[in-house]
Amino acid sequence: MYPEDIVEEVRQKNNIVDVISEHVRLQKKGGSYFGLCPFHGEKTPSFSVSPNKQMFYCFGCGVGGNVFSFVMRYENATFKEAVKILADRAGVKLPEIELTAEMKKKASEKSILLEINKEAAKYFYYSLRSPQGKNGYEYLQGRKLTDDTMKAWGLGYANMYSDDLCKYLKGKGYSDEMIVKAGLASRREDKGMHDKFWNRVMFPIQDMNHKVIGFGGRVMGDGEPKYLNSPETLVFDKSRNLYGLNFARSSRKNRMILCEGYMDVIAMHQAGFTEAVASLGTAFTIGQASLLKRFTDTVILSYDSDGAGTKAALRAIGILRDAGLTGRVLDLKPYKDPDEFIKNLGAEEFEKRIDNAKNSFYFEIEVLARGYDQNDPQEKTAFHREVAKKLCTFTEDVERNNYLEGICREYMIDSAGMRKLVMSVVNQTGLGTPVREKPRSGMAASNSPEDGILKAQRILITWLCEEPDIYKSIAEYISAADFTDELYGQVANELISGIESGGFVPATLVSRFEEEEDQQKIAQIFNTKITGLDGQPLAMDSITDKEKALKDIVLKVKENSYEYHSKNLTGDVASIDEAIRGKKQLEKLKMATIRL
Ligand code: CTP
Ligand code: MN
Repeated sequence: MYPEDIVEEVRQKNNIVDVISEHVRLQKKGGSYFGLCPFHGEKTPSFSVSPNKQMFYCFGCGVGGNVFSFVMRYENATFKEAVKILADRAGVKLPEIELTAEMKKKASEKSILLEINKEAAKYFYYSLRSPQGKNGYEYLQGRKLTDDTMKAWGLGYANMYSDDLCKYLKGKGYSDEMIVKAGLASRREDKGMHDKFWNRVMFPIQDMNHKVIGFGGRVMGDGEPKYLNSPETLVFDKSRNLYGLNFARSSRKNRMILCEGYMDVIAMHQAGFTEAVASLGTAFTIGQASLLKRFTDTVILSYDSDGAGTKAALRAIGILRDAGLTGRVLDLKPYKDPDEFIKNLGAEEFEKRIDNAKNSFYFEIEVLARGYDQNDPQEKTAFHREVAKKLCTFTEDVERNNYLEGICREYMIDSAGMRKLVMSVVNQTGLGTPVREKPRSGMAASNSPEDGILKAQRILITWLCEEPDIYKSIAEYISAADFTDELYGQVANELISGIESGGFVPATLVSRFEEEEDQQKIAQIFNTKITGLDGQPLAMDSITDKEKALKDIVLKVKENSYEYHSKNLTGDVASIDEAIRGKKQLEKLKMATIRL
């Protein structure tokens, strides 16, 4: 990664208001700018940009961060890419990241492999459009692909001769060794070099940045294997790429459709579903899930409806869940896959099926139900027991209850009975009361006591940031250690030392975190509405009301901090001293009046 001071220089030379204004129409309102959020659909502006904090925050959907976070989200870039984009914009020269000899060799091999792939793609592309490619071209036409579609996806044809591509690539100066390493040919003792792909229509596989990293080739008609794919190479990691993502990443829909086949992706894009991607002839992986997570939080699964497809869908659901993504499952009956469905019923019907896509938990239960004869009392009981077990995986009461009720309605199960069953499963397996899951982002704020405490900490941080003057009134009571969430503690630490030394820009802090999720959390911390603990807005003109509200908040933060630290005592003398000091301080604060 680039050194911190360079990152900070790049940030300072890119005023966030200017950068965002290039993409969003902003209007000044008070000290901030407002506009329509580019990250979710809205009609009234809740997207704010603060020139003082050099941060943005959407009060509607909760996204936020500094100028790097904005570029990461808007351009679907990594942190490093965002730094590069903004460095270019401001004319800052970034240092070359030092490479070892080994890394240099690898980098140059990689770039040769990419060149070879690009040449091969060109070769296939022209073959398809030449007289000898007639069969291939007619095959694709028969599959209802338009010329524009074939062009956009760079579809091609590998002809009947099994050494053609090799000859062509060698003519371009590439060595046998590199052609083999690219996965396009193999060398045999008896026959010498021969092409991997021949007499097939060719699907170049591109990475997110439109670079060709491999190929899939389909026989025209029946034949085995139906698809032949490039092996994994230095540039082709099947578990970290998705077919179609180079286009889908900019579809700007709030979902992705995940399917199994090349033809499905292409057919969907042609029908306007430009958010479709496919895994590459292998099972869906966690690496692919985190790739999708950069662009969406909802994934619609469109797998074949046969046994193998159902199994694959169930696996994918688990992986999506682990990655923190919501999965929904498409039902395309009576058709086998999206390609066939669209060919027969069209895009409008397909959209309807998407609207009706099943919540992944319901889908799992539905699959489960198929395994039991609901007319047999014993099997029915076993089914209910399995449902109860699955319900136990929800750690949040409200969510679990909602699912419980939904399932009971659908399968006509008595919900009071199911509730008892869930309790008995919990007791039997000794799980204890399910623990509460941490909310993934600030958006899903529920009203647990824990949320109340974090909220008090957030209000205090935002308040300190917007009115640093209040710090001197509470300095004797508050320190960074009182912010019990790890990230909040780090933020408070920077903030307090910033106030003490007389300069703090929250946007600087954001750059220390490369993950969008952390950046967003920090944006939320600095954009909390300053209210009393009751959630009522403060009458900022009444100084006594303000003092009282501030005291309530400080007291809440302090009480929690005392409780937290005394629970985590190590038992040595120092920590006991610390606890006693904390207790005294707390007593003093309770009696004190805070004066602004
Ligand atoms: N696949 C593969 N090798 C095979 C068969 C399938 O790599 N021998 C992969 C391909 O990526 C293919 C996907 O699995 O796109 C789905 O396979 P399948 O459902 O059999 O094919 P379809 O996508 O329906 O292909 P088509 O419509 O061309 O028959
Ligand atoms: Mn198909």
